[in-house]
Amino acid sequence: MYLRSLHLRHFRNYSDQGIQFDSPKTILVGDNAQGKTNLLEAVELLATLRSRRASRDRELVRKDSSQAQIAATVERRGVGHELVVDLRSNGRRTLKVNGQLLRRQAEFLGQLNAVLFSSLDLDLVRGGPESRRNWLDGVLIQLEPLYTGLLEHYRRVLKQRNALLKAQREPTGQTGHSFRDSEMAFWNRELATVGSRIVRRRARLLQRLEPLADHWHRAISDGQETLRLSYRPQVPLPDPEATAEVVQAQFLQEMKTKATAELALGSSLVGPHRDEVEMSINGTAARAYGSQGQQRTLVLALKLAELELIEQVIGEPPLLLLDDVLAELDLHRQNQLLDAIQTRVQTLVTTTHLGSFDAHWLSEAQILQVHAGRLCLYKADQQDSHLSKLPLM
Ligand SMILES: Nc1ncnc2c1ncn2[C@@H]1O[C@H](COP(=O)(O)OP(=O)(O)OP(=O)(O)O)[C@@H](O)[C@H]1O
Ligand SMILES: [Mg+2]
Repeated sequence: MYLRSLHLRHFRNYSDQGIQFDSPKTILVGDNAQGKTNLLEAVELLATLRSRRASRDRELVRKDSSQAQIAATVERRGVGHELVVDLRSNGRRTLKVNGQLLRRQAEFLGQLNAVLFSSLDLDLVRGGPESRRNWLDGVLIQLEPLYTGLLEHYRRVLKQRNALLKAQREPTGQTGHSFRDSEMAFWNRELATVGSRIVRRRARLLQRLEPLADHWHRAISDGQETLRLSYRPQVPLPDPEATAEVVQAQFLQEMKTKATAELALGSSLVGPHRDEVEMSINGTAARAYGSQGQQRTLVLALKLAELELIEQVIGEPPLLLLDDVLAELDLHRQNQLLDAIQTRVQTLVTTTHLGSFDAHWLSEAQILQVHAGRLCLYKADQQDSHLSKLPLM
Protein backbone atom coordinates (compact mmCIF):
# COMPACT_ATOMS: atom_id res chain seq x y z
CA MET A 1 0.00 0.00 0.00
CA TYR A 2 1.45 3.31 -1.01
CA LEU A 3 0.25 6.86 -0.52
CA ARG A 4 1.40 8.57 -3.74
CA SER A 5 0.06 12.03 -3.12
CA LEU A 6 -1.97 14.09 -0.72
CA HIS A 7 -3.73 17.39 -1.23
CA LEU A 8 -5.04 19.41 1.69
CA ARG A 9 -7.48 22.27 1.18
CA HIS A 10 -8.54 24.43 4.13
CA PHE A 11 -7.63 21.58 6.46
CA ARG A 12 -6.42 22.75 9.93
CA ASN A 13 -3.69 25.35 9.26
CA TYR A 14 -3.22 24.33 5.58
CA SER A 15 -4.89 26.43 2.91
CA ASP A 16 -3.93 24.66 -0.31
CA GLN A 17 -1.02 22.25 -0.25
CA GLY A 18 -0.17 19.31 -2.48
CA ILE A 19 2.49 16.70 -1.68
CA GLN A 20 3.97 13.89 -3.74
CA PHE A 21 5.53 11.07 -1.73
CA ASP A 22 8.60 10.02 -3.70
CA SER A 23 10.29 7.75 -1.22
CA PRO A 24 9.08 5.01 1.15
CA LYS A 25 10.24 7.27 3.98
CA THR A 26 9.22 10.87 4.46
CA ILE A 27 10.48 13.05 7.27
CA LEU A 28 8.44 16.13 8.13
CA VAL A 29 10.63 18.56 10.01
CA GLY A 30 9.54 21.83 11.55
CA ASP A 31 9.20 23.88 14.70
CA ASN A 32 6.31 23.41 17.08
CA ALA A 33 2.78 24.31 15.92
CA GLN A 34 3.63 24.42 12.18
CA GLY A 35 1.37 21.63 10.92
CA LYS A 36 3.35 18.39 11.17
CA THR A 37 0.78 16.52 13.25
CA ASN A 38 -2.02 18.11 11.21
CA LEU A 39 -0.66 16.39 8.11
CA LEU A 40 -0.51 12.98 9.79
CA GLU A 41 -4.00 13.60 11.15
CA ALA A 42 -5.25 14.01 7.56
CA VAL A 43 -3.81 10.58 6.70
CA GLU A 44 -5.30 9.11 9.90
CA LEU A 45 -8.69 10.43 8.79
CA LEU A 46 -8.37 8.72 5.42
CA ALA A 47 -7.62 5.44 7.19
CA THR A 48 -10.19 5.53 10.00
CA LEU A 49 -12.49 8.51 9.29
CA ARG A 50 -11.66 9.49 12.85
CA SER A 51 -9.17 11.79 14.49
CA ARG A 52 -7.77 11.23 17.94
CA ARG A 53 -7.46 14.94 18.52
CA ALA A 54 -10.72 16.31 17.16
CA SER A 55 -14.13 15.47 18.50
CA ARG A 56 -15.95 17.44 15.81
CA ASP A 57 -15.22 18.36 12.21
CA ARG A 58 -15.43 22.08 12.95
CA GLU A 59 -11.95 21.77 14.54
CA LEU A 60 -10.52 20.22 11.37
CA VAL A 61 -11.75 22.92 9.01
CA ARG A 62 -9.47 25.93 8.67
CA LYS A 63 -10.67 28.74 10.93
CA ASP A 64 -11.64 31.13 8.13
CA SER A 65 -13.44 28.46 6.04
CA SER A 66 -16.60 26.40 6.23
CA GLN A 67 -15.32 23.42 4.24
CA ALA A 68 -12.12 21.40 4.04
CA GLN A 69 -10.91 18.69 1.72
CA ILE A 70 -8.42 15.85 1.99
CA ALA A 71 -7.65 14.28 -1.38
CA ALA A 72 -5.20 11.43 -1.94
CA THR A 73 -3.91 9.00 -4.51
CA VAL A 74 -3.32 5.57 -3.01
CA GLU A 75 -1.82 2.54 -4.68
CA ARG A 76 -3.20 -0.81 -3.55
CA ARG A 77 -1.93 -4.03 -5.15
CA GLY A 78 -0.43 -1.92 -7.90
CA VAL A 79 -3.70 -0.14 -8.76
CA GLY A 80 -4.16 3.59 -8.13
CA HIS A 81 -7.27 4.95 -6.38
CA GLU A 82 -8.39 8.52 -5.80
CA LEU A 83 -9.82 9.19 -2.34
CA VAL A 84 -11.59 12.39 -1.38
CA VAL A 85 -13.02 13.38 2.00
CA ASP A 86 -14.93 16.67 2.19
CA LEU A 87 -15.40 17.98 5.73
CA ARG A 88 -17.77 20.75 6.74
CA SER A 89 -17.90 22.76 9.93
CA ASN A 90 -21.52 21.68 10.33
CA GLY A 91 -20.29 18.06 10.56
CA ARG A 92 -21.65 16.77 7.25
CA ARG A 93 -19.12 14.73 5.29
CA THR A 94 -18.85 13.63 1.69
CA LEU A 95 -16.75 10.59 0.79
CA LYS A 96 -15.61 9.71 -2.72
CA VAL A 97 -13.53 6.92 -4.20
CA ASN A 98 -12.49 7.30 -7.83
CA GLY A 99 -15.01 10.09 -8.29
CA GLN A 100 -17.90 7.99 -7.02
CA LEU A 101 -19.90 9.32 -4.12
CA LEU A 102 -20.24 6.77 -1.30
CA ARG A 103 -23.26 6.57 0.94
CA ARG A 104 -21.73 4.61 3.77
CA GLN A 105 -18.53 5.07 5.75
CA ALA A 106 -17.87 1.35 5.61
CA GLU A 107 -17.40 1.58 1.83
CA PHE A 108 -14.65 4.15 2.27
CA LEU A 109 -12.85 2.44 5.15
CA GLY A 110 -10.22 -0.05 4.11
CA GLN A 111 -9.14 2.01 1.09
CA LEU A 112 -6.07 3.10 3.03
CA ASN A 113 -4.65 1.44 6.13
CA ALA A 114 -2.40 3.18 8.59
CA VAL A 115 -0.89 2.68 12.02
CA LEU A 116 -0.41 5.88 13.96
CA PHE A 117 2.18 5.93 16.71
CA SER A 118 2.42 9.18 18.63
CA SER A 119 3.54 10.28 22.05
CA LEU A 120 -0.14 10.08 23.04
CA ASP A 121 0.17 6.31 22.72
CA LEU A 122 1.95 6.07 26.05
CA ASP A 123 -1.59 6.53 27.35
CA LEU A 124 -2.25 3.04 26.10
CA VAL A 125 -0.42 1.77 29.16
CA ARG A 126 -0.67 4.64 31.60
CA GLY A 127 -4.00 6.20 30.72
CA GLY A 128 -7.57 5.17 31.49
CA PRO A 129 -9.41 2.25 29.85
CA GLU A 130 -10.98 4.49 27.20
CA SER A 131 -7.68 4.93 25.35
CA ARG A 132 -7.25 1.14 25.19
CA ARG A 133 -10.80 0.63 23.95
CA ASN A 134 -10.31 3.34 21.32
CA TRP A 135 -7.12 1.67 20.18
CA LEU A 136 -8.88 -1.68 19.66
CA ASP A 137 -11.77 0.06 17.88
CA GLY A 138 -9.37 1.92 15.55
CA VAL A 139 -7.76 -1.36 14.50
CA LEU A 140 -11.09 -3.15 14.09
CA ILE A 141 -12.49 -0.35 11.91
CA GLN A 142 -9.61 -0.90 9.51
CA LEU A 143 -9.74 -4.70 9.50
CA GLU A 144 -13.50 -4.93 9.36
CA PRO A 145 -15.06 -1.68 8.05
CA LEU A 146 -18.60 -2.77 9.01
CA TYR A 147 -17.49 -2.50 12.63
CA THR A 148 -17.89 1.28 12.36
CA GLY A 149 -21.66 0.78 11.88
CA LEU A 150 -21.74 -1.44 14.94
CA LEU A 151 -20.04 1.22 17.07
CA GLU A 152 -22.43 3.88 15.82
CA HIS A 153 -25.43 1.62 16.53
CA TYR A 154 -24.14 0.93 20.05
CA ARG A 155 -23.63 4.64 20.71
CA ARG A 156 -27.27 5.31 19.81
CA VAL A 157 -28.55 2.43 21.96
CA LEU A 158 -26.54 3.62 24.93
CA LYS A 159 -27.82 7.17 24.53
CA GLN A 160 -31.44 6.01 24.42
CA ARG A 161 -31.04 3.61 27.31
CA ASN A 162 -29.32 6.21 29.49
CA ALA A 163 -32.07 8.73 28.71
CA LEU A 164 -34.65 6.15 29.72
CA LEU A 165 -32.81 5.30 32.97
CA LYS A 166 -32.82 8.98 33.85
CA ALA A 167 -36.52 9.29 32.98
CA GLN A 168 -37.33 6.26 35.15
CA ARG A 169 -36.13 8.12 38.19
CA GLU A 170 -38.90 10.64 37.74
CA PRO A 171 -42.40 9.89 39.08
CA THR A 172 -45.02 8.85 36.55
CA GLY A 173 -48.58 7.43 36.36
CA GLN A 174 -49.38 3.68 36.34
CA THR A 175 -49.53 3.38 32.54
CA GLY A 176 -46.29 5.30 32.21
CA HIS A 177 -44.49 2.68 34.28
CA SER A 178 -45.52 -0.30 32.22
CA PHE A 179 -44.73 1.56 29.00
CA ARG A 180 -41.28 2.42 30.29
CA ASP A 181 -40.70 -1.17 31.42
CA SER A 182 -41.39 -2.56 27.99
CA GLU A 183 -39.28 0.18 26.44
CA MET A 184 -36.46 -0.72 28.81
CA ALA A 185 -36.77 -4.39 27.95
CA PHE A 186 -36.36 -3.42 24.29
CA TRP A 187 -33.21 -1.36 24.93
CA ASN A 188 -31.82 -4.12 27.16
CA ARG A 189 -32.10 -6.58 24.28
CA GLU A 190 -30.58 -4.07 21.86
CA LEU A 191 -27.67 -3.37 24.19
CA ALA A 192 -27.11 -7.09 24.73
CA THR A 193 -27.18 -7.85 20.99
CA VAL A 194 -24.98 -5.01 19.75
CA GLY A 195 -22.81 -4.92 22.87
CA SER A 196 -22.00 -8.61 22.70
CA ARG A 197 -20.97 -8.29 19.05
CA ILE A 198 -18.53 -5.54 19.97
CA VAL A 199 -17.16 -7.45 22.95
CA ARG A 200 -16.61 -10.62 20.92
CA ARG A 201 -14.79 -8.75 18.17
CA ARG A 202 -12.56 -6.86 20.57
CA ALA A 203 -11.71 -10.00 22.54
CA ARG A 204 -10.88 -11.91 19.35
CA LEU A 205 -8.71 -9.05 18.09
CA LEU A 206 -6.76 -8.99 21.33
CA GLN A 207 -6.24 -12.74 21.11
CA ARG A 208 -4.69 -12.29 17.69
CA LEU A 209 -2.57 -9.32 18.75
CA GLU A 210 -1.21 -10.96 21.90
CA PRO A 211 1.28 -13.43 20.37
CA LEU A 212 2.54 -10.79 17.91
CA ALA A 213 2.99 -8.18 20.64
CA ASP A 214 4.60 -10.74 22.96
CA HIS A 215 7.08 -11.62 20.21
CA TRP A 216 8.07 -7.97 19.74
CA HIS A 217 8.18 -7.29 23.45
CA ARG A 218 10.55 -10.24 24.01
CA ALA A 219 12.72 -9.13 21.09
CA ILE A 220 13.04 -5.57 22.38
CA SER A 221 13.63 -6.64 25.98
CA ASP A 222 16.22 -9.24 24.85
CA GLY A 223 14.03 -12.16 25.81
CA GLN A 224 13.69 -10.99 29.41
CA GLU A 225 10.02 -10.23 29.51
CA THR A 226 6.74 -11.89 28.68
CA LEU A 227 3.75 -9.80 27.71
CA ARG A 228 0.14 -10.78 28.31
CA LEU A 229 -2.88 -8.95 26.94
CA SER A 230 -6.39 -9.81 28.01
CA TYR A 231 -9.80 -8.35 27.45
CA ARG A 232 -11.69 -7.79 30.71
CA PRO A 233 -15.34 -7.25 29.89
CA GLN A 234 -17.90 -5.99 32.39
CA VAL A 235 -19.93 -9.00 31.44
CA PRO A 236 -17.71 -12.04 31.98
CA LEU A 237 -17.36 -13.98 28.74
CA PRO A 238 -18.05 -17.70 29.29
CA ASP A 239 -15.21 -18.44 26.88
CA PRO A 240 -13.93 -16.60 23.81
CA GLU A 241 -15.57 -19.07 21.44
CA ALA A 242 -18.99 -18.85 23.11
CA THR A 243 -21.91 -18.37 20.75
CA ALA A 244 -23.59 -14.98 20.37
CA GLU A 245 -26.71 -16.27 22.18
CA VAL A 246 -24.74 -17.36 25.22
CA VAL A 247 -22.97 -13.99 25.46
CA GLN A 248 -26.24 -12.08 25.03
CA ALA A 249 -27.89 -14.11 27.80
CA GLN A 250 -24.94 -13.31 30.03
CA PHE A 251 -25.42 -9.60 29.24
CA LEU A 252 -29.09 -9.65 30.17
CA GLN A 253 -28.30 -11.48 33.41
CA GLU A 254 -25.67 -8.89 34.32
CA MET A 255 -28.10 -6.04 33.59
CA LYS A 256 -30.55 -7.64 36.02
CA THR A 257 -27.89 -7.77 38.71
CA LYS A 258 -26.94 -4.14 38.21
CA ALA A 259 -30.47 -2.79 37.68
CA THR A 260 -30.73 -0.99 41.00
CA ALA A 261 -27.34 0.66 40.69
CA GLU A 262 -28.07 1.71 37.08
CA LEU A 263 -31.30 3.29 38.12
CA ALA A 264 -29.66 5.14 40.99
CA LEU A 265 -26.93 6.49 38.71
CA GLY A 266 -29.12 7.02 35.67
CA SER A 267 -26.51 5.48 33.37
CA SER A 268 -25.66 2.08 31.90
CA LEU A 269 -23.07 0.12 33.86
CA VAL A 270 -22.97 -2.96 31.68
CA GLY A 271 -21.47 -3.11 28.21
CA PRO A 272 -18.37 -2.58 26.08
CA HIS A 273 -18.23 1.15 26.95
CA ARG A 274 -17.01 0.05 30.40
CA ASP A 275 -14.66 -2.76 29.40
CA GLU A 276 -10.97 -2.87 30.15
CA VAL A 277 -7.85 -4.29 28.51
CA GLU A 278 -5.28 -5.70 30.88
CA MET A 279 -1.61 -5.62 30.01
CA SER A 280 0.93 -7.39 32.14
CA ILE A 281 4.68 -7.85 31.98
CA ASN A 282 6.04 -10.99 33.63
CA GLY A 283 2.77 -11.38 35.44
CA THR A 284 2.45 -7.89 36.94
CA ALA A 285 0.19 -5.10 35.71
CA ALA A 286 2.14 -2.86 33.33
CA ARG A 287 0.08 0.19 34.22
CA ALA A 288 0.82 0.18 37.92
CA TYR A 289 4.20 -1.49 38.10
CA GLY A 290 5.92 -1.08 34.73
CA SER A 291 8.96 1.21 34.60
CA GLN A 292 8.93 3.99 31.98
CA GLY A 293 11.28 1.95 29.82
CA GLN A 294 9.07 -1.15 30.07
CA GLN A 295 5.99 0.91 29.23
CA ARG A 296 7.70 2.33 26.15
CA THR A 297 8.76 -1.14 25.06
CA LEU A 298 5.21 -2.35 25.54
CA VAL A 299 3.68 0.45 23.46
CA LEU A 300 6.21 -0.10 20.70
CA ALA A 301 5.44 -3.83 20.78
CA LEU A 302 1.68 -3.09 20.54
CA LYS A 303 2.19 -0.84 17.54
CA LEU A 304 4.42 -3.36 15.75
CA ALA A 305 1.83 -6.06 16.46
CA GLU A 306 -0.89 -3.81 15.01
CA LEU A 307 1.22 -3.24 11.90
CA GLU A 308 1.91 -6.94 11.49
CA LEU A 309 -1.70 -7.99 11.98
CA ILE A 310 -3.03 -5.45 9.48
CA GLU A 311 -0.41 -6.65 7.01
CA GLN A 312 -1.43 -10.29 7.57
CA VAL A 313 -5.12 -9.60 7.14
CA ILE A 314 -4.97 -7.07 4.30
CA GLY A 315 -2.07 -8.72 2.48
CA GLU A 316 -0.13 -5.45 2.21
CA PRO A 317 1.72 -3.44 4.85
CA PRO A 318 -0.19 -0.39 6.12
CA LEU A 319 1.36 3.06 6.29
CA LEU A 320 3.21 3.86 9.48
CA LEU A 321 2.78 7.36 10.90
CA LEU A 322 5.32 8.21 13.58
CA ASP A 323 4.46 11.45 15.29
CA ASP A 324 7.33 12.73 17.39
CA VAL A 325 8.14 9.31 18.79
CA LEU A 326 11.42 8.32 17.17
CA ALA A 327 13.42 10.84 19.16
CA GLU A 328 11.79 9.55 22.34
CA LEU A 329 12.99 6.00 21.78
CA ASP A 330 16.53 5.03 22.71
CA LEU A 331 18.84 3.77 19.94
CA HIS A 332 18.12 0.11 20.68
CA ARG A 333 14.35 0.60 20.33
CA GLN A 334 14.79 2.87 17.30
CA ASN A 335 16.79 0.15 15.59
CA GLN A 336 14.21 -2.51 16.44
CA LEU A 337 11.58 -0.36 14.85
CA LEU A 338 13.63 0.45 11.77
CA ASP A 339 14.57 -3.22 11.30
CA ALA A 340 10.92 -4.18 11.53
CA ILE A 341 9.75 -1.72 8.88
CA GLN A 342 12.77 -1.62 6.53
CA THR A 343 11.66 -0.20 3.19
CA ARG A 344 8.56 -2.40 2.96
CA VAL A 345 6.44 -0.07 5.03
CA GLN A 346 5.82 3.46 3.82
CA THR A 347 6.57 5.65 6.79
CA LEU A 348 5.83 9.32 7.53
CA VAL A 349 7.80 10.68 10.46
CA THR A 350 7.54 14.05 12.16
CA THR A 351 10.30 15.69 14.14
CA THR A 352 11.48 19.07 15.31
CA HIS A 353 15.15 18.08 14.81
CA LEU A 354 16.84 15.98 12.19
CA GLY A 355 19.71 15.39 14.62
CA SER A 356 18.04 12.36 16.21
CA PHE A 357 17.98 10.47 12.91
CA ASP A 358 20.44 7.88 11.81
CA ALA A 359 22.49 9.07 8.76
CA HIS A 360 21.27 6.08 6.78
CA TRP A 361 17.68 7.20 7.26
CA LEU A 362 18.42 10.78 6.26
CA SER A 363 20.07 9.69 3.04
CA GLU A 364 17.11 7.49 2.03
CA ALA A 365 14.24 9.72 3.08
CA GLN A 366 12.39 12.51 1.38
CA ILE A 367 12.69 15.43 3.81
CA LEU A 368 10.04 18.13 3.90
CA GLN A 369 10.12 21.29 5.95
CA VAL A 370 6.79 22.30 7.49
CA HIS A 371 6.31 25.96 8.22
CA ALA A 372 2.98 27.67 9.04
CA GLY A 373 0.91 25.21 7.02
CA ARG A 374 3.25 25.24 4.00
CA LEU A 375 5.70 22.59 2.86
CA CYS A 376 9.14 22.99 1.31
CA LEU A 377 11.38 20.28 -0.02
CA TYR A 378 14.71 19.97 1.73
CA LYS A 379 17.72 18.86 -0.27
CA ALA A 380 21.12 18.03 1.15
CA ASP A 381 23.61 20.56 -0.18
CA GLN A 382 26.83 18.70 -1.01
CA GLN A 383 28.96 21.88 -0.86
CA ASP A 384 28.58 22.85 2.74
CA SER A 385 26.61 19.81 3.94
CA HIS A 386 23.85 22.08 5.16
CA LEU A 387 20.31 21.38 4.15
CA SER A 388 18.86 23.93 1.76
CA LYS A 389 15.22 24.71 1.07
CA LEU A 390 13.41 24.35 -2.23
CA PRO A 391 9.77 25.30 -2.70
CA LEU A 392 7.60 22.20 -3.17
CA MET A 393 4.47 23.19 -5.04
N1 LIG B 1 -8.94 24.60 12.33
C1 LIG B 1 -7.77 25.24 12.32
N2 LIG B 1 -7.61 26.37 11.58
C2 LIG B 1 -6.43 27.01 11.56
N3 LIG B 1 -5.35 26.62 12.24
C3 LIG B 1 -5.45 25.51 12.98
C4 LIG B 1 -6.66 24.77 13.06
N4 LIG B 1 -6.45 23.73 13.87
C5 LIG B 1 -5.18 23.81 14.30
N5 LIG B 1 -4.57 24.88 13.77
C6 LIG B 1 -3.20 25.32 13.99
O1 LIG B 1 -2.30 24.28 13.67
C7 LIG B 1 -1.15 24.41 14.48
C8 LIG B 1 -0.79 23.11 15.14
O2 LIG B 1 -0.38 22.24 14.19
P1 LIG B 1 0.24 20.83 14.57
O3 LIG B 1 -0.46 20.24 15.72
O4 LIG B 1 0.29 20.07 13.31
O5 LIG B 1 1.69 21.28 15.05
P2 LIG B 1 3.05 20.47 14.98
O6 LIG B 1 3.85 20.97 13.85
O7 LIG B 1 2.77 19.01 15.03
O8 LIG B 1 3.72 20.97 16.32
P3 LIG B 1 4.43 20.15 17.53
O9 LIG B 1 5.86 20.00 17.12
O10 LIG B 1 4.29 21.07 18.68
O11 LIG B 1 3.71 18.87 17.72
C9 LIG B 1 -1.43 25.44 15.55
O12 LIG B 1 -0.76 26.63 15.23
C10 LIG B 1 -2.93 25.60 15.46
O13 LIG B 1 -3.32 26.89 15.81
MG1 LIG C 1 2.78 17.64 16.59
